Amino acid sequence: MWSADLFARALDFAAKAHGEQKVPGSGFPYVTHVTKVALEALRACVEEPSLDANLALACAVLHDSLEDAGVTRAQVELEFGAAVAAGVQALTKDATLPKDKQLADSLARIRREPREVWLVKLADRITNLEAPPHYWSLEKRRKYRAEALEIHAALGAAHAALAARLEARAEAYLAYCREPGDG
Ligand code: NI
Repeated sequence: MWSADLFARALDFAAKAHGEQKVPGSGFPYVTHVTKVALEALRACVEEPSLDANLALACAVLHDSLEDAGVTRAQVELEFGAAVAAGVQALTKDATLPKDKQLADSLARIRREPREVWLVKLADRITNLEAPPHYWSLEKRRKYRAEALEIHAALGAAHAALAARLEARAEAYLAYCREPGDG
């Protein structure tokens, strides 16, 4: 059974780390994003009880805390253990690489982690394929959708139902990828 205490502890950690950070577009507090990602991941674990839901939940709640909030891997390891820290590290883009190499690099590192970490990346992009911020260009939206398909191709094998959800979201997202006035 997954631990509500662990989830609450991770959520507090993330809330503190993300501070005043907002979700781009909606402007909601950033913890709403990581909570949605955790719910997607939890749903997958409920469907498949052999998965380690605690690992998935902790990685989901903490997945952006290294990348966006300036937390260190050592802090995550101290609070949540080595497996969670390794998962969160894999989910973090390497900012020292050129931008166009960062996703493929992160996906390759995620694939070396347990399936619970793969789930979090699928869940993250499912969550992020809500309506894009209004100021995103058509090019950026199309690139974002193409990335979603890349994530699906690399990690979809981790969980059929989540992969199907990502595919459906990417299909619906096409509506944001058309020239104004297109069909
Ligand atoms: Ni995220």
